[in-house]
Amino acid sequence: MAKITVVGPGAMGCLFAVRLIRAGNKVHLVDYRADRAERLNKSGIVLEEPDGNVFREHIPVSLSVPNGQDLVIVLVKSQHTGSLRFPPEVPVLTLQNGLGNVETLCNLVGSARVLAGVTTEAAHLLEEGRVRHAASGLTQFGAWTSCATTPVYRILQEGGFNVEVTESPGQLIWEKAAINAAINPLTALLDVPNGKLLDIPEIRQLMRDLVVEATKVAATEGYRFPHSLVERAEQVCRDTRNNVSSMLQDVRAGRPTEIRAISGEILRRAQLAALPTPRTRVVYQLVRGLESR
Ligand code: PAF
Repeated sequence: MAKITVVGPGAMGCLFAVRLIRAGNKVHLVDYRADRAERLNKSGIVLEEPDGNVFREHIPVSLSVPNGQDLVIVLVKSQHTGSLRFPPEVPVLTLQNGLGNVETLCNLVGSARVLAGVTTEAAHLLEEGRVRHAASGLTQFGAWTSCATTPVYRILQEGGFNVEVTESPGQLIWEKAAINAAINPLTALLDVPNGKLLDIPEIRQLMRDLVVEATKVAATEGYRFPHSLVERAEQVCRDTRNNVSSMLQDVRAGRPTEIRAISGEILRRAQLAALPTPRTRVVYQLVRGLESR
């Protein structure tokens, strides 16, 4: 039994928390909003699995990470990463969308405690504390520098996750960010599920162009991909045809999106390399506009 804190009671946070508590771990959730933490403490967290099983677990929710944890999993939206605080020693795993979370966590806890990765689990919040796990995916993570991966691999595997350890988490994070930089803003702007992007030729071309811009920025940081990210993005659209992207979920719920950590970070890094990314700039500006309507 491990002591695990999951930071962020969104769709992914609730999925990981319920799975890990059901695997026999002592799990704690952290929320930055006191009113929601209080409600979740009363209601518990409900997980609807794809096979129709529904689990309700009473998971303590507090405003900060308790001492004496074996692992902290960070699943808050990127805009909240900088305000997190962690007790000493504990390994911190980020599976967040977007670029820049790892660097922020390294500043907070030191790179030797940071594990980083991505997950393709598909989940969405039906209401506060109630998550529908739409489809299983793959969770890949690795040490940013020297943090041990084996104990965390076991914890995730015993929690029922399909998990792989990678030597190059930075590459995976860039790959996911490049795909998110195309799918997420376009689905949010057009108010369509992921698969629809393939059906409209002009939008499909724009999606491809956005991936290419992001890939060029990744190359300025030394990341090169052994496969076509354009093809990967199109495959993600096919595999998640009916899914509502996380950015569209945020727009529909009137929440701020992760556009700053995705397209915003790509723009910032492109500027450092003096690389023009005109399409990324336009979708960034439009989503910022959507957020402030
Ligand atoms: O952010 C998301 O929703 C997902 O990362 C993705 C790949 C766009 C699928 O919906």
